[in-house]
Parts: sequence; structure tokens; C-alpha cells
Amino acid sequence: MNEILKSLHDRKSVRVFTEEPISDADKTQILEAALAAPSAGCQLLYTILDITDQAKKDQLADLCDHQPFIAKAPMVLIFCADCQKWLSFYQEAGLTPRTPGSGDLLLAVEDAVIAAQNAVTAAQSLAIGSCYIGDIMENVEGIRSLLALPSYVYPAAMLVFGHPTASQLERKKPERFALSDLVCENAYQKKSGEEIRRMFNGHTGAKTYDDWMEAFWKRKYESDFSREMSRSMDVYLKEFQE
Ligand SMILES: Cc1cc2nc3c(=O)[nH]c(=O)nc-3n(C[C@H](O)[C@H](O)[C@H](O)COP(=O)(O)O)c2cc1C
Repeated sequence: MNEILKSLHDRKSVRVFTEEPISDADKTQILEAALAAPSAGCQLLYTILDITDQAKKDQLADLCDHQPFIAKAPMVLIFCADCQKWLSFYQEAGLTPRTPGSGDLLLAVEDAVIAAQNAVTAAQSLAIGSCYIGDIMENVEGIRSLLALPSYVYPAAMLVFGHPTASQLERKKPERFALSDLVCENAYQKKSGEEIRRMFNGHTGAKTYDDWMEAFWKRKYESDFSREMSRSMDVYLKEFQE
């Protein structure tokens, strides 16, 4: 396995960090790697917020589903899909741009998330761990106010970074499904009940498939946080539909 593949397979989410700060040189390398990611039309349709204020980290820990490790992370980056700056660029040239639509938002989200993943990979190459925080997409009112987000700016991805503790390095990476369960040739193929059960074989711990799936469904799909994420998205999206 070559070095890049090994690094991709070795990476796992890190949620406990040592006290060691992230050097300015490492932070710059991580940010520059993010900007080197592919980008639609090379427009770089995002703005990265580098959260260095401890009070803001504390509030993010609270607003993002009460996850205290966010406040302890030496580096916190938020990748915002940014259609606002694009409007400003057009207006600066004397143009009259239309209101950005949901397609513009989606393109900017793709740009932002791809850049974020480059940051993850760059950090891994520097022995710095990271973890995505999906809950940045919730609590739209609180997040907007905390980060002074203008219209047409959507916080698409948040990442916390730091040097992993020994126990985090030893932690087993969650297992993935088999390739054949995720890849369809040429066209989408809906799985049969039998194929679904085979796919989850060995992935449900001591539980049966039905018990495991019901618990997961309650914890994730039917959870307050997932409903809140959709409510917040609707608020952001409304702007893009006006
Ligand atoms: C979009 C996204 C949102 C996530 N949000 C959280 C989060 O809020 N809190 C957390 O502890 N982990 C979060 N994670 C990390 C996942 O739990 C983790 O990637 C998954 O369990 C697979 O483990 P691995 O990253 O160690 O391979 C998130 C990951 C992604 C991609």
C-alpha cells in the first residue's frame, strides 16, 4: 500500500487531544492544503472561519449538541459555503446578480466539504487528528449570531483538530461495509431484504439486525438533533428560494 492510501486507511476521528498546541506552520499547511482541493470553476465558493476565541469554542460546544470536546480542541475550523462573497464580487463589477438559488448553495457546499476533507488528510499527514462536527448545521439562529454569518452563507462543515492522545491512537477504527455493498455497476440497484441483512451481518454487535436497527433509528433518524438540522436547513434554504 502506498503512503497516501495508508494514510487514508489509518485516519480515524479523534475526539480527545493532548495539550500540545498546533503550530502556526502546521495550521498554515493544513489551510493551504484545503485551498488546493478541487473547486467548481476554481471559484473557491467558501470561507473558512478559524475559531481561536475560547469563548466562541465554548459556545460552539454548547450549540453543537453539547459536545464538550469541541471546546478543548486546539484548532477549530468551520467551512462555510459562501454565495454572499460571490454576489459582492459581481456587484463590485457593476453587475446585477440574481438571488443565489439552491443549486448555487449545493455547489458551494460541495466546494466547502471537499476543501474540508483536504484539511483532514493534510492534518493526518502531520500526525494531527480531526473530527467533523455535523451539528454545526443546527441552531441556525445561534450559530449565525455567534459567527456573524450574513445571508447566503451556510456553515457546511466544522472540524476540530489536535494531537491525539495515546488512547485515541489505540482506539479501533469503526469497520466499513464490504465494497460490494456500496458499489453498483452502471445503474442504481435497490437492495433486497436478504441483501440488507447480509450487509449488516457482523455489524450489529450482540444484537439482532432488527433490534440494532431500531435503536440506531431512534438515536439518529428519529432524534431531536436530526429534526433540528432539517429545521435549520429550511431556514437557510428559504433565503435561497426568494
Ligand atoms: C458529516 C459528519 C458529521 C459528523 N459529526 C460528528 C459529531 O457531531 N460528533 C462526533 O463525535 N463525530 C462526528 N462525526 C464523526 C463520525 O462519527 C465518524 O466519522 C464515523 O463514526 C466513522 O469513524 P472514523 O471517522 O473514525 O472512521 C461526523 C462525521 C461526518 C462525516
